[in-house]
Amino acid sequence: MRIGIYGGSFDPVHNGHIAMMRSALKSGFIDCLIVIPSVRNSFKLYANKLPPPYRLCMMKETIEGLAIKNCYVSDIEFGIDGVSYTAVVLAKLTSDEYIREFLMANDVKRKKAEEHHEFFWIMGSDTLGTFETWYKPGEILKYVTLLAAVRPGDDTDVDKAADSIKKNLGGKVELFRLNGVECSSSEITRSGDFSQVPEPAREFIKRHALYTENTMLNGISDEAKKQFFECATWMHKYLGCKRLLHTLNVGYLSAHLAGLYGCDKDKALLAGALHDCAKELPIEQQLEMAKRYTGDLFTEKKIIHSSAGATFIKEELGIEDKEILDAICYHTTGRGNMSVLEKIVYLADKIEPSRTYMDLAPIREAAEHDLDEAVRMTAAAVRDKFISQGRALHPVTTAMMKDLGMISD
Ligand SMILES: [Fe+2]
Ligand SMILES: [Fe+2]
Repeated sequence: MRIGIYGGSFDPVHNGHIAMMRSALKSGFIDCLIVIPSVRNSFKLYANKLPPPYRLCMMKETIEGLAIKNCYVSDIEFGIDGVSYTAVVLAKLTSDEYIREFLMANDVKRKKAEEHHEFFWIMGSDTLGTFETWYKPGEILKYVTLLAAVRPGDDTDVDKAADSIKKNLGGKVELFRLNGVECSSSEITRSGDFSQVPEPAREFIKRHALYTENTMLNGISDEAKKQFFECATWMHKYLGCKRLLHTLNVGYLSAHLAGLYGCDKDKALLAGALHDCAKELPIEQQLEMAKRYTGDLFTEKKIIHSSAGATFIKEELGIEDKEILDAICYHTTGRGNMSVLEKIVYLADKIEPSRTYMDLAPIREAAEHDLDEAVRMTAAAVRDKFISQGRALHPVTTAMMKDLGMISD
């Protein structure tokens, strides 16, 4: 097959990107297209607005929502350590085994997936001029033909750049016609005008309340932002899209609440973002990890991911901060004598923007000015649910409710 590859930050994806994909697919040069949202782009390491999983899942939903045929989204950069240089990504992607498995996972028939493939790197004509300054451009050209999009009327410089690449590096360059609007992600987020963002992506952004004040990470240190992006990337190995985005949403909301209630925003961001990291591990592993943090305190299947999470990040990420570990450990149940951080993560978990299990508007409203009241309202909703299901509350939850004056001694 002739396979196009299109990489970018897609922060957010916009109609210019979609036009590029559709025009490439119609160009006659390629049979299918692989879209790769960047993870550690050498030009803007940790400078993206959103960590990689949001951009990956937004792209998946967009392509599905727009029903773009023969177009697949790849998470290949999540599995590459360090900067995701194009040459490094292509070495992995174009290997026989990797591409065969990838295509088959995307429902391409085995016979087609095992064919000899030819690869094309899709790029804008503006980036063609800088291609020779990329990391190992000669190596990139061993794997791909460059396929550059040309807008009607802007052919001159493109021809010059293409000739220079062919002459200096000996690679192949092809041009295709791009029909569509010109837009820029940074302009969209700067202006707040999302009209050039395709509907499925707009819906995604709204559902997770992205590109808002809370996701700008104001007041967060560079180190914590970097750690947040790295943790988000790490969790992609262990969590499906829905839960991963939920846990990251809790990070953003926790950091916001920390700002309101005089708590450390860096710690709140990390504790919130990582709170559900262990939830999709095999149950036996969760149980064993939970034991190592809290002994026999938690044994119920739905609860153990919390204290297992504390062990998990301690051992895998080397996070030793007891306040962070405890906030994760007690996010499901609460407990007596909770710290402000513990209350914040407990609350944020139940009311982050994508939660829809009940009308959360009153609790969300309370969360903005009275932390204890919002926690009480949340605990009351949990208690009602438990009663309706005939389940008993965990003793640590009862202790929290006593503390908050919901139960008298
Ligand atoms: Fe949880
Ligand atoms: Fe959660």
